[in-house]
Amino acid sequence: MTTAFHVVPFSPEYDSSAFESLDQHLTAYLKEGRAQRDLSTGQAAVFLMVDEAERVQGYYTLSSASVPRKEAFSGTQARKFPYPQVAVTLLGRVAIHKDLRGQGIGTDLILHALRQAARAAETVASYAVILDAKKVTALYARLGFVPFKDQPLKLFLPIETIRQLP
Ligand SMILES: CC(C)(COP(=O)(O)OP(=O)(O)OC[C@H]1O[C@@H](n2cnc3c(N)ncnc32)[C@H](O)[C@@H]1OP(=O)(O)O)[C@@H](O)C(=O)NCCC(=O)NCCS
Repeated sequence: MTTAFHVVPFSPEYDSSAFESLDQHLTAYLKEGRAQRDLSTGQAAVFLMVDEAERVQGYYTLSSASVPRKEAFSGTQARKFPYPQVAVTLLGRVAIHKDLRGQGIGTDLILHALRQAARAAETVASYAVILDAKKVTALYARLGFVPFKDQPLKLFLPIETIRQLP
């Protein structure tokens, strides 16, 4: 994370009034109370990337989730899991302010989310971070994410791999 920004747990006290993602749904999620609702109902942990003036410039969400082993993984890989559902961590949303795109800041924020997920997995076990890449597949491929069986846009990265990231 560049020194201009730091990541903090969600609080309505941070100023998100000027935050604007290229994806209006991701803007609305933060600005129209859904982030706070998901936090208060235990559906997502929300982390904000803020600047020195404590203005929100990005965010991500993490949640506990599970995936059916047979749908997600092929033969040998699926067989190593003892239960029909595999415990994972969902990186549900990630966005940065539209004016900051293309400078590596999104990659830094995603790396922060991955490390946060790996730390959480020390106390609540999780096999991998999963996400729905929509169209942003190249960025995630560079980080080592691979697709689930027959689902090219649903990606995962094992927690063990995240622990070895530099
Ligand atoms: C996705 C996002 C967080 C990436 O942040 P960023 O700071 O722009 O990303 P970086 O500068 O670290 O990396 C740039 C890479 O992101 C990928 N990327 C970013 N936006 C993309 C888009 N709209 N379509 C496809 N790839 C995209 C590309 O791989 C790009 O690499 P390239 O420049 O070599 O093509 C940011 O662009 C964003 O907030 N987008 C809108 C919200 C969104 O789409 N979120 C869903 C992500 S699953």
